Amino acid sequence: MDRIRIIGGHRLNGTIQISGAKNATLPLMIASLLSEDTLILDNVPQLADVVLLQRILGNHGVDVMIAGKRAGEDANNGRTLHISAKHIVDTTAPYELVSKMRASFWVIAPLVARMGEAKVSMPGGCAIGTRPVDLLIMALEKLGTEIEVEGGYVIARAPKGLCGAEINFPKVTVGGTHTAIMAASLAHGTTVIENAAREPEIGDVADCLNKMGAKISGAGTSRIVIEGVPKLHGARHTVLPDRIETGTYAMAVAMTGGDVLLQNARPELLQAALDVLGQAGATVTPTNEGVRVARNGAGLMPVEVTTAPFPGFPTDLQAQLMALMTRAHGTSHITETIFENRFMHVQELVRLGAHIHLDGETATIDGVPCLKGAPVMATDLRASVSLVIAGLAAEGETMVNRVYHLDRGFERVEEKLARCGAAIERLGG
Ligand code: EPU
Repeated sequence: MDRIRIIGGHRLNGTIQISGAKNATLPLMIASLLSEDTLILDNVPQLADVVLLQRILGNHGVDVMIAGKRAGEDANNGRTLHISAKHIVDTTAPYELVSKMRASFWVIAPLVARMGEAKVSMPGGCAIGTRPVDLLIMALEKLGTEIEVEGGYVIARAPKGLCGAEINFPKVTVGGTHTAIMAASLAHGTTVIENAAREPEIGDVADCLNKMGAKISGAGTSRIVIEGVPKLHGARHTVLPDRIETGTYAMAVAMTGGDVLLQNARPELLQAALDVLGQAGATVTPTNEGVRVARNGAGLMPVEVTTAPFPGFPTDLQAQLMALMTRAHGTSHITETIFENRFMHVQELVRLGAHIHLDGETATIDGVPCLKGAPVMATDLRASVSLVIAGLAAEGETMVNRVYHLDRGFERVEEKLARCGAAIERLGG
């Protein structure tokens, strides 16, 4: 397995191109199952999760064509996928595939909405928590799906089609909201989703579905209304920029010092995180091209942060912020409210010399004057990248093992950082 080797202590200066969002790309690809026509997605990042989802969709009979680059096109621009779900040959998503990527469970919604049936493996727990799917099932049941759980599989049936309904989520869920929107798009009648997730990726998927002929309003607010339509058609859609990748590089710059333009970034997608970076001592400036992040001279200040659904501080940036706060002048507190076990990075940061104390869902971080390089590894994507951020500032060599996790969600992380002056390289396994 590949590893990433970092020699810390170099400032970051230059430009980093922000890729299309992983967490929009995955549901957008899944939404292609709703139509017989081709869905064209632009600005798709090259990630292991995208490749895996291609395989999962392929198993249902979906044909994915990756368009090559045209002459003169910037090699950093994302790729274009042509996705055709004309012939769905299998409505089962097997354990071997779903267990590798939780979001693939979401295929249940378009399959039952269009084909009247689906059999999808329960995803099981994962490194960041138990992550149940009860609310996704509740939403499908409200829309008239009969659900049975057998042999680790959720079997969904709606032979006469789905019916619009009122769905009130007791807890904000991104996957639940995606599932409800996709299924309701092809239901008879009107669906109202209350306490919907407001994450920008929900809005992006709703925009794409509307281009495909769906009638969705209110996406981006906590009340979404969907008028079902009998059929969806093909469309072309550009994936929105990745706010978590943006926040990650912004924290890397705050960590090392320097001045970097995050090209294509949209500040409104991560205002809460940018505000925290400002409090920590970074200068964040929105520009016509993206967001500029700089820290020159000033030391890092400690912060108090609690993760929350959008527009709050995202759980997907919690590990990266913790890495940053290991070097602050003082004590920070970070509370994780979304996932109960998302602290895989704590012990690895401690190996680099960080002082972190965990008490339930709150981490207390006493800033230290320096971190020292060491071999580290993590079992989830955001935890892995937090170790890269720490390694960029640590004295000497940090070797990040199990790079597979990074490749799931960060496109060419070592290349992007090296171009801005980091001493970072990938070593083949
Ligand atoms: N939950 C339930 N029951 C459900 C569904 C969720 O109790 O049926 C709970 C979860 O256990 C969690 C909370 O509700 O405690 C929120 O989970 P949510 O459904 O919002 O998360 P998700 O849809 O599984 C997506 C992202 C995650 C991101 C979360 C929160 C994708 C593919 N995944 O997951 O991204 O952390 O929303 O914003 O969009 C990542 O990219 O590294 C990642 C983990």
